[in-house]
Amino acid sequence: MKKRIQDLDVRNKTVLLRCDFNVPVDNGVIKDDSKIIESLETIEYLIKNHAKVIILSHFGKVKSEEDKKKNSLEPVAKHLQSLISSKVLFSRQTRSPQLALLVEKMNPGEILVLENTRFEDVPNKLESGNDPQLAMYWAGLADIFCLDAFGSSHREHASTHGVAKFIPSCIGFLVQKEVANLDKYVLNAEKPFTILMGGAKVEDKVALIESLLPKCDHLLLTGGIANSCLYTLGYMVGNSLKTDDEAVLDKLKQLLIDYQEKIMLPLDVIVGRDYDSNYVEHIKVDEVQAGQAIFDVGMDTVRAYAQVLNSSATIFVNGTAGKYEDKRFATGTRELLEQIANNKAIKVVGGGDGVSAVKYFHFEDKFTYLSTGGGATLEYIINSSLPAIDNIEDQ
Ligand code: 3PG
Repeated sequence: MKKRIQDLDVRNKTVLLRCDFNVPVDNGVIKDDSKIIESLETIEYLIKNHAKVIILSHFGKVKSEEDKKKNSLEPVAKHLQSLISSKVLFSRQTRSPQLALLVEKMNPGEILVLENTRFEDVPNKLESGNDPQLAMYWAGLADIFCLDAFGSSHREHASTHGVAKFIPSCIGFLVQKEVANLDKYVLNAEKPFTILMGGAKVEDKVALIESLLPKCDHLLLTGGIANSCLYTLGYMVGNSLKTDDEAVLDKLKQLLIDYQEKIMLPLDVIVGRDYDSNYVEHIKVDEVQAGQAIFDVGMDTVRAYAQVLNSSATIFVNGTAGKYEDKRFATGTRELLEQIANNKAIKVVGGGDGVSAVKYFHFEDKFTYLSTGGGATLEYIINSSLPAIDNIEDQ
């Protein structure tokens, strides 16, 4: 059992809080602030306890000076200020001689957000390389480290992992909630347990499928993972998204053989052609031709999957059936999610795309639990642990 924030005396202390504020932004506007909202419980607890709060977070991918221009954390700090009454300060530096002075001058209950931790990756990858000097510097600003960035806990970076070596460490309320819910609803799911899986990152999903197949009763596949399965079984999938990795395709074929009674594949699909935006056709899955690409599942598939979903006690959703943002290819994803939303089962969605689709179609209130993690959620389900959480002190 890891030390929790409530196990340490944070009163009047300076707390280094690692959040995952890597939220989707479009033209400077935050499109979905759920990760920030979910972090408020820990932030407010620290404020109530008169702690000075220094927040660290990454934002986007920063590999060059150019990337820094579009990945400042400042809009997120401003948004945080609009959500809480305590003063939120922002430091354009991730490290500077003035920073320690600034922290010293902060009043208890105030918050200081440092610039994107990944700015430290240019040019020497100090953050993602888990540089001990950088970790020691950040730890030196505070008395206690609190990890509340569940979505970044699969990363062994200086701000998620390294810092915990230098000062007492604990996990915040969001990490506690994620672990408790994923343990209860997914790792120890009530049966019959059905998984609806789709999305693009086929290579990442194979390990997930492998770990979940022995635990689940049904695996309903859509998206790139279904296309790859169809392809490895000898179906024509044209230009559809799939993996070309022979080892992954062989693994999928073996899983399809070993678990044939659990795995379901699409019966009908909606196809388009990349070069022809007006072309859309609804066909049987064995009618796909070269030049066509599968972008959604058809209603025969929805009806067949719905029968299984309706007799499930737990449903875990990961990924989407197709290009749901495009109206022509939205029906399969929407209909499947609607079936689940109106179902009495425990419904959990985790791993990036699926969560966005649930919100896009406004079904979020009907789900039992929406995980804030993308890769972290999947890695937690596969390994029942995450490196940055493992690294926190035990009770
Ligand atoms: C996420 O959005 O999944 C997390 O913030 C992790 O982001 P990363 O994959 O860039 O580390």
